[in-house]
Amino acid sequence: MNKIELIEKAKEARALSYSPYSNFAVGAALLCKDGQVFLGTNVENASYPLCMCAERNAIYNAIMHGYKKEDFVSMALIADTDEPCSPCGACRQVISELLPANCPIYMANLKGEVIETTPIELLPFAFSSEDLGK
Ligand code: THU
Repeated sequence: MNKIELIEKAKEARALSYSPYSNFAVGAALLCKDGQVFLGTNVENASYPLCMCAERNAIYNAIMHGYKKEDFVSMALIADTDEPCSPCGACRQVISELLPANCPIYMANLKGEVIETTPIELLPFAFSSEDLGK
């Protein structure tokens, strides 16, 4: 699956967004080495802090199906933003722990603009298991 196809998958995930409070729909798609793609979208709640981002839902979806860091190839995310949609800080922390450091991440918007980045670029000097001595 190429970059464009993965972004299209993220767009499909975005269509499932439950975001009645922000009206800001986000979709994510995580590609694995065996070709499997895990989707995630943002799911909100009247208790606002419980809202969950698309990227974390996609990653947790993959983990829940037995996939691990070394199985992940690339991830795409998309929203209706002026600039390609950028992951929030919480997602960056989760990405830095669960995706390979140089795994391509395609940040996209509905205008077809894409910026390619990596977990290490998104969160340099991340807090990690090493800081905990693990
Ligand atoms: N959101 C994501 O799903 N991913 C991001 O990286 C940024 C924010 C969601 C959370 C919330 O449901 C809505 O977008 C507005 O913040």
